Amino acid sequence: MFVGLDLGTSSLKAVLVDDRQQVVASHAHPLRVTSPQPGWSEQAPQDWWEALVLTMDALAAANPREMAQVVGIGLSGQQHGAVLLGADGGVLRPCILWNDLRSVAQCAEFERRFPDSRQVCGNIAMPGFTAPKLIWVAEHEPEVFAATRHVLLPKAWLRYRMTGEMIDDMSDAAGSLWLDVGGRRWSDAALAATGLGREAMPAVVEGTARAGLLHADLARRWGMKDRPVLAGGAGDNAAGAVGLGAVQAGSSFLSLGTSGVLWVTTDRFRPHPQGGIHAFCHAVPDTWHQMGVTLSAASSLAWWARATGMTESALLAELPPEITQPSPVMFLPYLSGERTPHNDGQIRGGFAGLSDATTRADMTQAVLEGVAFSFRDVVDALADAGSVLTGADVIGGGSHSRLWVSIIANVTGLSLHRLAHGAQGGAFGAARLARIAVTAEAVGAVCQPQPREETLMPDADMSAAYAAPLARYRALYPALRGAMA
Ligand code: XUL
Repeated sequence: MFVGLDLGTSSLKAVLVDDRQQVVASHAHPLRVTSPQPGWSEQAPQDWWEALVLTMDALAAANPREMAQVVGIGLSGQQHGAVLLGADGGVLRPCILWNDLRSVAQCAEFERRFPDSRQVCGNIAMPGFTAPKLIWVAEHEPEVFAATRHVLLPKAWLRYRMTGEMIDDMSDAAGSLWLDVGGRRWSDAALAATGLGREAMPAVVEGTARAGLLHADLARRWGMKDRPVLAGGAGDNAAGAVGLGAVQAGSSFLSLGTSGVLWVTTDRFRPHPQGGIHAFCHAVPDTWHQMGVTLSAASSLAWWARATGMTESALLAELPPEITQPSPVMFLPYLSGERTPHNDGQIRGGFAGLSDATTRADMTQAVLEGVAFSFRDVVDALADAGSVLTGADVIGGGSHSRLWVSIIANVTGLSLHRLAHGAQGGAFGAARLARIAVTAEAVGAVCQPQPREETLMPDADMSAAYAAPLARYRALYPALRGAMA
């Protein structure tokens, strides 16, 4: 029996998975994000810990027989956040999250101090990543920076609380901008560019490796017979990939979650930073991936629902079951800046083309289409990076809308596979990593693909109909930037 834990941004989720890879139980606890200033995004690590304990307590109370048999725990987590620890191991300030935009200027400073960073770390320095956040802290909170002895990514901090050990996995570490991604080891030059050294970093291991033993008192509290082994685990996207079986080169998925992700697994380190493509380690050995991120995907529809005082499903119900022509309205989903392809932390979104005939349904359709156009930009950036995709599994909360998935298929030209059991998410992938760490089974044997329910193929007429709106969408980005900067 294995437990997979996924520290997301909006909730912490735990799944209990049996030896036949069936999810026998799951439990989740919501999390809150605070935004002390526009563009800032923080969470208190202590809230994650309380969520973890409550979630595991609930799982143990409902499944005592199964919990007694747990031999491995896998961790998946939101990437890039900076948890700063002092000499006593205590947390020094709230965690600055992956979607925090405060460190735009510090990104330029990081690249000035470490000119080879794009090639070594595989990415443009973006404010989402960890290293520029530390330069921001050094500049704005020098006393906090001076007191910092260790920097952990979110799930590594949970492991520290669970085991007392500072260890993280390659896939998550790659999102820090401190990893030599090709060499799968910390880069002294990258660390020096932020005034840090290796002593501030956790040990790095593969996601499939053993990485700590659960504290005995926690194992007792949750009714576990033995102290389970923790696996290295993975950043949430890599854990999702493991859960989907996307471990062979060329396998891909599109995640329509809070942020939108298009992922492709690669058999070597293939950086292509200029298009805003991320090149990170995968959570399994000798494997990497490329990924493009659009920051406001399902969160664009969530925002539109809040703005209109409607629920998302009520908004979707106002649309026809099938879209036969593009909306007359354009939407640019840059609600919290954009990563791929623009790498622009300052751009904000917009509607265009409104008239006195515009309906709410036109605007909802525009929101769905705007997110699809941003995925199309990612598809093209990945093609420039050498990964030409024709299809992808689709996961994430937004994938429940068949209509939205069909719009994305038509706009991107990808065949999109909806999965039979929906997305099991990072927690399931983390449980698979725990299984590999404990049993030493082969990655390919454990990480089988998920069964598909249906494939939505692009419709040639609709794809052609989207050509003109796509060109308008692309022309609007520089216009918006110029007008609003
Ligand atoms: C990936 C990223 C997000 C977070 C969300 O680069 O920033 O997908 O991991 O949890």
